[in-house]
Amino acid sequence: MLNTILVTGGAGYIGSHTTLCLLEKGYEVVVIDNLANASKESLKRVEKLTGKKLTFFEVDLLHETDIHKVLSCHPNIRQVIHFAGLKAVGESTDDPLRYYHNNLTGTLHLLRALESTNIRQMVFSSSATVYGYPTTIPVNEHAPIQPTNPYGHTKAMIEQIILDTIAAYNWGVVILRYFNPVGAHASGEIGEDPAYPNNLLPYITQVAAGVREKVTIFGDDYPTPDGSGVRDYIHVVDLAHAHIAALGALDKQPTGAQLYNVGTGKGYSVKEVLEATQAVVDRPIPVEVGPRRAGDVAELTSDPSRAHAALGWNAKHDLKEMVRSAWHWQSKNPHGYRKQ
Ligand code: WQD
Repeated sequence: MLNTILVTGGAGYIGSHTTLCLLEKGYEVVVIDNLANASKESLKRVEKLTGKKLTFFEVDLLHETDIHKVLSCHPNIRQVIHFAGLKAVGESTDDPLRYYHNNLTGTLHLLRALESTNIRQMVFSSSATVYGYPTTIPVNEHAPIQPTNPYGHTKAMIEQIILDTIAAYNWGVVILRYFNPVGAHASGEIGEDPAYPNNLLPYITQVAAGVREKVTIFGDDYPTPDGSGVRDYIHVVDLAHAHIAALGALDKQPTGAQLYNVGTGKGYSVKEVLEATQAVVDRPIPVEVGPRRAGDVAELTSDPSRAHAALGWNAKHDLKEMVRSAWHWQSKNPHGYRKQ
């Protein structure tokens, strides 16, 4: 019998894909989510796609007693995947106190509730954003931690809180640093549903769907082959599988810290992503070149070799599959999970 997994933020973009994957693998799943940036509809669709039931609680991690209630109702929970948090870089710069309060206090409540119920295994959703402006490319896990915005600081601080928790209470935690998650489940039933798209690919697909007017390339004068920014895009389904592999790694090594980059190791420019999307979309995508976006780096790609070696995990989807699945989701759900 597999463990019961608690998934915080399980109704969100990466959370819903991972929940689907967990159910497919035979795990029992308890999702908690405050639905601030997510919809319960994603979980209904996950149940429909898998033919399996999950348990959902609308809980905000800022309410610690609610976390205790969930844990006492589900004494079989042994491991946790912690996605819940605010994640928009620009918003975090405009309202840092909200970001620090939500991401740090929420995580502290979760960790305290888990410690008090003797649940000491976790997979944490971190980000390549902790590397800030990288000094070498591709970036491996030894690179310095130097975030450049409040959101990135919350991720770096939570990593530190986790390391101290491991040392003091003998926890086992896998920290996954995601590069640029994109794409959607092959069914087109679940996907990324931002109220306003801050990231490149959802922006492009919304323009292609006619929801927005045109894509602006944020600078084409970078020292990259075509002048536009280069990133390491990772298919969300590959990312979901990395979490399953991380749970396996916790079974093998129940205590201590494990830290992995999750990317493909390949970089694609903004122009390459636009071309790849144009090739799968049957309508023109209006594009203009604008100035650089403050805080952007020219290039950020991962060295994922540690995850390959230790987790036996490899990304299987290429850029074409990333954009095709993103477009499939977008064209099937022009308004995301909202009816209109
Ligand atoms: C990708 C490239 C832009 C939009 C962010 C966060 C990071 C992580 C992932 C969570 C860049 C260019 C973008 C547009 C563009 N999130 N771009 N026009 O900035 O690499 O990473 O999301 O952890 O923390 O910072 O991703 O998708 O915003 O940008 O030209 O309309 O696309 O300049 O080169 P980014 P992104």
